Amino acid sequence: MEKLHIKGGNNLYGTVEIGSAKNAYLPILAGAILCSGKIELNNFPFYRDTINMTSILKELGAKIEIDDKKLFLDMQSLNKFEIPSQLAMLTRSSIFSLGAILGRFGKARVAYPGGCDIGSRPIDLHLKGLEKLGVKIIDKHGYITCDGRNLHGNLIHLDFPSVGATENIMMAGVLAKGTTKIVNAAKEPEVVDLQNFLNKAGAKIRGAGTEVITIKGVEKLHDVSYTPITDRIIAGTYVLATCICGGEICLENVNPTHLQALTSKLTENNPSIKINSKNNCMFIKSCGKLKAINKIETMPYPGFPTDLQPQMVALLSICEGTSVVVENLFETRYRYTTELAKMGADIIIKDRSAIIKGVKNLYGAQVFASDLRGGAGLVLAGLIADGYTTIGNIEHIQRGYESIQTDLKKLGADIELVN
Ligand code: UD1
Repeated sequence: MEKLHIKGGNNLYGTVEIGSAKNAYLPILAGAILCSGKIELNNFPFYRDTINMTSILKELGAKIEIDDKKLFLDMQSLNKFEIPSQLAMLTRSSIFSLGAILGRFGKARVAYPGGCDIGSRPIDLHLKGLEKLGVKIIDKHGYITCDGRNLHGNLIHLDFPSVGATENIMMAGVLAKGTTKIVNAAKEPEVVDLQNFLNKAGAKIRGAGTEVITIKGVEKLHDVSYTPITDRIIAGTYVLATCICGGEICLENVNPTHLQALTSKLTENNPSIKINSKNNCMFIKSCGKLKAINKIETMPYPGFPTDLQPQMVALLSICEGTSVVVENLFETRYRYTTELAKMGADIIIKDRSAIIKGVKNLYGAQVFASDLRGGAGLVLAGLIADGYTTIGNIEHIQRGYESIQTDLKKLGADIELVN
């Protein structure tokens, strides 16, 4: 089993280029199911989750080639409408393929999805939305079986702006008869990217990035070449790494607007953190001891992202004073804190809140990643801990970071992948 071995204490200096966003690439790969022609996607990121999603598309009958990070998808040969449980368990994005499979075949059978164990992660909003579009659903024996022969547009008011439900319903509406309107839609940049990809292939969607998305059904989609957006969570992880370690780095290929919730919190009461941006580059400089941040609450975009909560808590664990973090999205997203405690962090969890009392030093320990972003939080803690940290179960981290050790090593961290 591979592990990450880190010797803490190095400052970070240098430049790293940020790759494509996992959460943009995954729904776009699902959206590809709607196209019956050829698709080229640029900058394919070799995350475990995106690789697994290509296996799902192959299972459905797609022909896929990768050449120099360009993904070529031939979707003409698609001939299956079922995602079996052994594949659905691999990635949560199997569930938002449902809308696209329904659009393509008028029927779908998808096993319950896997994904990070960070809470109950229900799919009721996905299913309620599809039912409103005329889909008949049988939810039995771990499979969702859908009859979408009567797929038609409708008004859907989401109880919560769920990213996955918004994307799923959006994709179901693309080839449906009539117009679909999603009210209280998720506004995440990755939802906008899915809209842009589908529109480039001939869909008629507008409003993504706002609370209301309108999808006018079209007959079919055509061939398309597209470059998905880059990963704001990876970029945010390296911003936080620099704040933890001290140093000065440049992140290339980022959209600084996507990171405003993070950067404004970091600079709120820490004038020693300097963050500037020019075009699509972000420059981060940090030195000296940082102060605690009074309160951070995770929220849907443009609020503070839940996917940066563990990395932020890792930073707060060595800041001067006491910080409070409230996790509003996923109820069990604090499991990594028991591992941080092994490294000397002083964190009390009470329901959805974490009370973090900054300690002078963390120390190296043998810890285990329990989920993707929690694992990234442990890596950041290892970068500042005294001595050596070994992180196990890193397959979780690899779901959303192509090679976190390569990027951090390039910036001067002492980190190795070991067997
Ligand atoms: C997506 C992201 C994930 C991120 C999350 C929140 C992808 C592949 N994953 O996950 O990285 O952490 O957004 O920004 O894009 N909910 C329901 N019923 C539903 C669906 C969701 O109650 O049918 C609840 C969830 O339990 C959670 C909240 O809505 O409390 C947000 O979940 P959602 O936005 O759907 O997250 P995902 O799409 O799963």
